[in-house]
Amino acid sequence: MASILQANNLTKNYGDLAAVDDVSFDIQDGEIFSLLGPNGAGKTTTISMLSTLLAPSSGDALINGYSILKDNMQVRKYIGIVPQEIALYDDLTALENLFYWGRLNDLNGQELSQRVHEVLGIIDLTDRARDRIKTFSGGMKRRINIAAGLLHKPKLLFMDEPTVGIDPQSRRMILDMVKELNQQGMSIFYTTHYMEEAQELSDRVGIIDQGKLIAIGTQDELTRQVGENDSIRIETDPTDDLPSIASQLEGFGEISKVMVEADGLTLITKDAEHSLAPIITQAGRAGARIKSIKIIEPNLETVFLHLTGRALRD
Ligand SMILES: Nc1ncnc2c1ncn2[C@@H]1O[C@H](COP(=O)(O)OP(=O)(O)O)[C@@H](O)[C@H]1O
Ligand SMILES: [Mg+2]
Repeated sequence: MASILQANNLTKNYGDLAAVDDVSFDIQDGEIFSLLGPNGAGKTTTISMLSTLLAPSSGDALINGYSILKDNMQVRKYIGIVPQEIALYDDLTALENLFYWGRLNDLNGQELSQRVHEVLGIIDLTDRARDRIKTFSGGMKRRINIAAGLLHKPKLLFMDEPTVGIDPQSRRMILDMVKELNQQGMSIFYTTHYMEEAQELSDRVGIIDQGKLIAIGTQDELTRQVGENDSIRIETDPTDDLPSIASQLEGFGEISKVMVEADGLTLITKDAEHSLAPIITQAGRAGARIKSIKIIEPNLETVFLHLTGRALRD
């Protein structure tokens, strides 16, 4: 398969901060690629550079063979953008917003009209087409935003955290739509800080943290990196002194990391099954009143934890 996107050493500096730091990767034609990382990791900055909205400090990328630096007008023909921030006119109807966006993307006349109706069908809002955006829920606004990104039939669609802060039905609909668009041949670049979404959608995942791409591969390849390390999740009584318990578990047996969370601890250890009993005893000695304990098979969240020592969400 050919690459639809090839990012080479992309970097964006803001003063001393490297918001995106020497990032290189490929997206294959027909793939769903997710960039997974916590808030502030550099996802939006990466998408903004790749979609030619923001100039890199250094590095370049090719989209369908065209450079984002030198051929940005060509690049824009092939890409659709669904930004994190909603970019719609509240006082206009859904239909009016989409016609406006279409004209900005050089669509006109019969073709524009046909596409507007097609994309309204894709996002299942045909029956609300003549209502003003200000009467829409957050999830419906997101869907209109997606429709705007689809108007000119992009080969590659950039979606920046399209499900944050919306209702579960809209979220479900958006995830199903991403899969459907992909099945029809569209390549997707998707960013999220939700492990479940990356897990459900992606052919390959890049994990980004503090501007650096710290891992990339299929989900199997990534979870294999964690090797024989399992995670154990302990839920404790809310009044337990977690930092103190954590310090007494640190380095115990085969435990390599202990993370304090709101309602308990997550430990990384080798051979969780055999370590479970001694860990329960040790945690009890340290004063933990354990409410539940379970072994978590390696997943994208534990990969992140393993690589950074921090939780994906905090
Ligand atoms: N225009 C800007 N000026 C200064 N710092 C910025 C700017 N945009 C983003 N940043 C910083 O760059 C880092 C990455 O931001 P961003 O790409 O928005 O992360 P994400 O989308 O993963 O949450 C953050 O530390 C953020 O504060
Ligand atoms: Mg962002």
